[in-house]
Amino acid sequence: MNRRRVLNLSAVTALGLALPGSALEARAQGALSRTAVWPNKRLLDLLKIEHPIVQAPMGGHVGPDMPPAVSGAGGLGSFPCTGLTPAQVRDAVGKIRTQTSKPLNINFFCHAMPRRDEAVESAWRKRLAPYYAELGVDPPASPTRTLEPFGSEMCDAVIELKPEVVSFHFGLPEKSLVNRLKAAGCTILSSATTVTEARWLEDQGADAVIAQGVEAGGHRGMFLTTEPASQVSTLALVPQVVDAIRVPVIAAGGIADGRGIAAAFALGASGVQMGTAYLLCPEARISAYHRAALKSARDKLTAMTNVLTGRPARVFMNRIVREIGPLADGVPAFPLAAAAVAPLRTKAESQGSAEFSALYAGQAAALARELPARDFTLKLAADALDRLRVLGHAS
Ligand SMILES: Cc1cc2nc3c(=O)[nH]c(=O)nc-3n(C[C@H](O)[C@H](O)[C@H](O)COP(=O)(O)O)c2cc1C
Repeated sequence: MNRRRVLNLSAVTALGLALPGSALEARAQGALSRTAVWPNKRLLDLLKIEHPIVQAPMGGHVGPDMPPAVSGAGGLGSFPCTGLTPAQVRDAVGKIRTQTSKPLNINFFCHAMPRRDEAVESAWRKRLAPYYAELGVDPPASPTRTLEPFGSEMCDAVIELKPEVVSFHFGLPEKSLVNRLKAAGCTILSSATTVTEARWLEDQGADAVIAQGVEAGGHRGMFLTTEPASQVSTLALVPQVVDAIRVPVIAAGGIADGRGIAAAFALGASGVQMGTAYLLCPEARISAYHRAALKSARDKLTAMTNVLTGRPARVFMNRIVREIGPLADGVPAFPLAAAAVAPLRTKAESQGSAEFSALYAGQAAALARELPARDFTLKLAADALDRLRVLGHAS
């Protein structure tokens, strides 16, 4: 390819954000239709999508508007179902299906139900007591109900809805449920944070594995290890997972633009899953605090902490994370820890402060851009292809 043309394309890419939506789409479509040749088509073939970009399911942050926008652009839109009832999942998927007939991923947590330990829970509330006093709120009672993992009733609903893809966080549900989903024609994905977890997922029937590096926003998908020191970067994890398993690998964690996507392919991945970068899309359902933090992310620290929910997750650093964590002992099991923090968050937010909020964000948060999810997906694909073309001229 003509080198001058490649450089011009890159210059346009750099300006892309200044273009209005329709011009942006025209540029992206142009770049894509010319030679949308990805170095590795395994994920495209498996998921029957045009661009190897999976918008991450982000529980509580993605409603039914974002997935169809991403799938409509040729990526894979993902709808997070954590915390929803089967009826709510049916309703949301119904809404999504009116907007696109392209492939859809729906996502569930499959954590172990926490073992209740009143001594741990009351010690945790005691630890937070100075904050309750400072903010003038009563310590909450122990929660009577807690977040349910994926189970057979939900499995019935999913089989009825027949999404093309079902993804899980924190491992996989029991084998009989995985088998039922596969028999219904669903492709199964799950996140691995170590090579051992990736091998386990492949052995248990995952059709592709999301290799989630430690840069990632949100909860660590870790499920065979509880050791935070076992968590490594995307750059280190992806090639080792690629070498260890036969199914396609999807890189996740700190990928926020076309450069990151091209890098993932260089590491041997067949696609990417991106979360934080989609949080600034207008379709994202995030608080004003979260939006403001993302928009000024440049100098903001993120930290992997367990103090907000009981499981390690990457968030913007704030007071509770700094003072109690980031990683603390004696925190009640996921998701019980969250109930004790909830009244602090509510009261602080009512006073204009996010110092007790869980503002999930990955290490590349400063690269997030405010674009509609469709335009953003097209731009990511076009920019990644431009970058790959430029790199193809290395000789
Ligand atoms: C706000 C937020 C919520 C998330 N919630 C989920 C979830 O419900 N299910 C899931 O599988 N992954 C979840 N993740 C993790 C993502 O799937 C993915 O691993 C991560 O976003 C990749 O890193 P990045 O944020 O740097 O792109 C979440 C991530 C974020 C940022």
